[in-house]
Amino acid sequence: MTDQYAVFGNPVSHSLSPWIHARFAEQTGQALHYGKQEVPLEGFAQAVRQFFADGGLGLNVTVPFKQQAWALCASRSRRAESAGAVNTLLMRDNGLFGDNTDGAGLVRDLQQNLGLELAGRRLLMLGAGGAARGVLLPLLDASPADLTIANRTPDKAVALAREASSSGPATACTFAGLAGRRFDLVINATSAGLSGGMPTLPDGLFTAEGAAYDMVYGPRPTRFMEWARKQGVTRVHDGLGMLVEQAAESFLLWRGVRPDTGCLLDELREHLGQ
Ligand code: ATR
Repeated sequence: MTDQYAVFGNPVSHSLSPWIHARFAEQTGQALHYGKQEVPLEGFAQAVRQFFADGGLGLNVTVPFKQQAWALCASRSRRAESAGAVNTLLMRDNGLFGDNTDGAGLVRDLQQNLGLELAGRRLLMLGAGGAARGVLLPLLDASPADLTIANRTPDKAVALAREASSSGPATACTFAGLAGRRFDLVINATSAGLSGGMPTLPDGLFTAEGAAYDMVYGPRPTRFMEWARKQGVTRVHDGLGMLVEQAAESFLLWRGVRPDTGCLLDELREHLGQ
């Protein structure tokens, strides 16, 4: 039987992961099949058990199951522990192992693909939900000068910054409290864009060379990206590169070989008609 991998989510029909992993497999000469499965909201644990009992080798996990995946694991990577969420599963001798490749994917996209320096830079993270928590540790591991977490509900930013502060210089702020401050990189990790919105932010948040990154992607630039351009930012990016890079990290974990993501990202943009 061909080695089996899949992504579990709900909904999952629009997932690009099967396309990405099929291209990785082709490129690296690996024989595998990567499918997608819409799992019932109450049936995640059962579906995971069944997948591995049937000989499956690895799973990606997406919305809304990443926390449940974390809870199912017998052991986890440091970055999965910190994220409180798991997006990559594999079976080890002692049971299910969980990793979270989202943050590494983001950092790799920022540094390798976009050429953005993180070490010594001032970073701003918008949002303090699951998406923000999932990437904090790898961002702090990249040694920024500081990382400010700003959130609509300030208490959540304070709690997240307190948790992260043992790993690096993380502090919390309200959106209004950002007025007058300047950042080298502003990352939008809120879900506001999903409903066509964006956080209410003061003007002038960017340094002269400052960049803006939205962790989501879509056929059109998000409101946050449009706002950043109006603020005079030229380096404005969506999260498609992060998607490809987190997939490459999962592929590396499962197959022991890192695919070449550079050309694939261009191909994917073409595939999506961007
Ligand atoms: P996710 O897993 O996508 O991070 P989440 O855990 O529900 O989802 O977190 C959503 C994040 O987007 C939160 O930081 C939320 O702010 P609150 O904590 O104040 O709810 C933020 N968010 C969602 N819609 C927003 C909006 N319109 N303006 C600002 N922040 C928003």
